[in-house]
Amino acid sequence: MAEKNRNFKKRIAVTGGAGFIGSNLLLMMVPRYPDYLFVNIDCLTYAANLSNLSEIDSAENYEFEKIDITDYAGLEQCFNKYNFDSVIHLAAESHVDRSLIGPALFIQTNVMGTFNLLELARKSAVSNSDFRFLHVSTDEVYGSIETGSRADENYPVNPSSPYAASKAAADQMVRSYHKSYGLNTVITNCTNNYGAFQFPEKLIPLLINNIINGKTMPVYGDGRNIRDWLYVEDHCRALDLVFHNGVAGSVYNIGSGSETENIILIKKICAILEKKTGAGPFDKLIEFVKDRPGHDRRYALDSSKIKNELGWEPSLSLDEGLELTVDWYLSQSDWLKKCTSGEYVNYYEKVYGDRK
Ligand code: NAD
Ligand code: TYD
Repeated sequence: MAEKNRNFKKRIAVTGGAGFIGSNLLLMMVPRYPDYLFVNIDCLTYAANLSNLSEIDSAENYEFEKIDITDYAGLEQCFNKYNFDSVIHLAAESHVDRSLIGPALFIQTNVMGTFNLLELARKSAVSNSDFRFLHVSTDEVYGSIETGSRADENYPVNPSSPYAASKAAADQMVRSYHKSYGLNTVITNCTNNYGAFQFPEKLIPLLINNIINGKTMPVYGDGRNIRDWLYVEDHCRALDLVFHNGVAGSVYNIGSGSETENIILIKKICAILEKKTGAGPFDKLIEFVKDRPGHDRRYALDSSKIKNELGWEPSLSLDEGLELTVDWYLSQSDWLKKCTSGEYVNYYEKVYGDRK
C-alpha cells in the first residue's frame, strides 16, 4: 500500500472494471499508464470475473475495491481513501433481456449508482475543479434508427427497453451536472461491442457457446434486426482518447459503421466455427423464436465527431474481430463453463423456455 500512496499523475476510479468492457479497458490502460493509479470499483455481479484481470492483479498501479455503487457510504469511504481526480464509469446492469424481466435493479444500479458517483465527483470538484467524469453509455438511448439515417450526438433520445431508459436517465444526470455545477464530464454512446470476456447472454458469445455445446441458436423475430458491431478493444481505445482529450461537457458517439443483420452475423459465426473446428454445418442449429418485446430494429451511429475531433478509427473489420473472438472463446472453455453453470441455467430457462 505504501507504493499506492506515491505521487501518481492521476488517480482514477474505474467502476465495473471486472465486467466485459472494464476488463478489456484495464488490461489496456494499466500497463500503458504506469504513472496513473487505477482503482477498480466493482461489486462482482454475475457478469464480473476478477480472473480476467490476473495479468494486472499485482501491478503497482492497480487496486481492487469490492463496493456496490448503490452504497453511497461505501463509495465515500473509497473516495476519501484514494483522493481520486477522475472517474471512468462503466458499472451497470447491461443486458436488455434481464431488464425486461426485472427493471428495478437497472434503475437502482444505472440511475441511482450513477447519481452517487456524480455526487461524490461534485464534492471532489470543490477542491479540484478539473475532476474528470467519463460516463460510458450506449447507442440504445437513441432507440431504433430509421433506414437511411444515422444518429449523431444531437439525435433525439428515445429509449425502448428499461435498460436503455436507465442509461438515458443516467446520461441526462451527467449532462445536468455539467450544466448546473460545471463538472468536467464527457459521455460516450457506443454501439454493440464484442470480444474477449463478454458474458454469454449477449448474442455473439451466446451463439458461440451454443454451437460449441450443440444447442440451438435462438434468433429473435425474423433475424433481420441490424446492429453496428464494434470490437471491444477499438471501443477501449476510443474511451482512452475521450478520457484524455474529449471536450468537457461533450458527448461522443462511437460506432464501427459495419451494420449487419443478425442472421448474416449468425451465418458468419457458423462459417468461422466450421473452418476452425472442421465440424458442422452449424446453420442447422438456427432456430427462429418469439421476438423480444420492444426490440429495436436498427442501431446505426454517425461517429464523425470522434473521428474528426480526436482522430479515432476502428482498427478491425467485423470479419477480423469475429475471428479473434471465436479463437478466444475456443481457448477458454473453463471460463465459459464457469459462466454457464449455476444461475445461468435458470436465466436461460426464464428467457428462452417459452419462446419457441
Ligand atoms: P457487463 O455487464 O459485462 O459488466 C458490468 C460490470 O459492472 C460487472 O463487472 C458488474 O459486476 C459491475 N456492476 C454491476 N452493478 C454494479 C454495482 N451496483 N456496483 C458495482 N459494480 C457493479 O457490462 P459491459 O458490457 O462491460 O458494459 C460496461 C458499460 O458499457 C455499461 O455501462 C454499459 O451500459 C456500457 N456499454 C456496453 C456496451 C456493450 O455492447 N456491452 C455497448 C455500449 C455501452
Ligand atoms: P444483444 O447482444 O442482447 O444486444 P442488444 O440487444 O443490446 O443489441 O442482442 C443483439 C441482437 O441480437 C439484438 O437484435 C437481439 C438479438 N438476439 C437474438 O436474436 N437472440 C438472442 O438470443 C439474443 C441474446 C439476442
